[in-house]
Amino acid sequence: MLAATRRGVDILRGGGNALDAVIATVEALENDEYFNAGYGSVLNIDGRVEMDAALMVAEARTAGGNNGRDYVPEARAGAVAAVSRVRNPILLARAVMETTPHILMVGAGAERLARRAGIALCRPDELITPRAKARWRLMFERKLMTAETADGREGGTVGAVAIDSRGALASATSTGGMTGKLAGRVGDSALIGAGVYADASGAASATGQGEAIIMFALCREAVRNLSMGKSAQVARATILELGRRTGGEAGVIIVDRRGRLGFAHNAGAMEVATFDPENGIRHYWPEPIT
Ligand code: GLY
Repeated sequence: MLAATRRGVDILRGGGNALDAVIATVEALENDEYFNAGYGSVLNIDGRVEMDAALMVAEARTAGGNNGRDYVPEARAGAVAAVSRVRNPILLARAVMETTPHILMVGAGAERLARRAGIALCRPDELITPRAKARWRLMFERKLMTAETADGREGGTVGAVAIDSRGALASATSTGGMTGKLAGRVGDSALIGAGVYADASGAASATGQGEAIIMFALCREAVRNLSMGKSAQVARATILELGRRTGGEAGVIIVDRRGRLGFAHNAGAMEVATFDPENGIRHYWPEPIT
């Protein structure tokens, strides 16, 4: 996780943009079998990998008036859902954003886009790790296909948020979902406003029980709440409210337009790494809030 964070940090330190930084970080996490995203994704009920990913960026662009000093925030987004044949769904989400007029793509059309965008396709079984297979088998052996276990609690969804020196805010999220999910199930990580969101006031990425996050529109809610406080308090208050309103478990990471970072969760665990120029990279295992 720290290695993935360093990839994003190197981009920002080198003057790169927030979008490249969050994508590089999530791509590194997708490539690491420890995480439930890309290679290492958990398996659905049929023993297959189906992955969701999304990203969003809010950039200031110069409008014509006031001698070019009028900055207008402009947001763009891209997402893919239930894809099985790419190692890095976050790169395909970027291709949706940058090369199509659409936001969310699935199925054969998404695969065709991957080919067009020069993103290599793989066989679906190349994404299956021994760990994911063992977890899937265990689920059947223990007959654990209950609402309690078929949720985001096993975790491992990955995400990143960043602000760059030009004030652009970006967020990216990627996941394999949850072990034993029905084939074709799409979680929050593919949905703008639920698992990912960015606008002129901030950017957020979510992890946890997809169905609860979707119902609550967690990331949109978190960014909207930035008008009421600093990122750290907003993360806590928003997760508490999600818990109250849905009974679900989730976590969120946020950065606001002043670069203030916040994170909170009410789940079993959530691991977080942060970077700011003053404190460098830091690593946290925050306690769940109740
Ligand atoms: N938050 C990941 C999922 O529920 O798919």
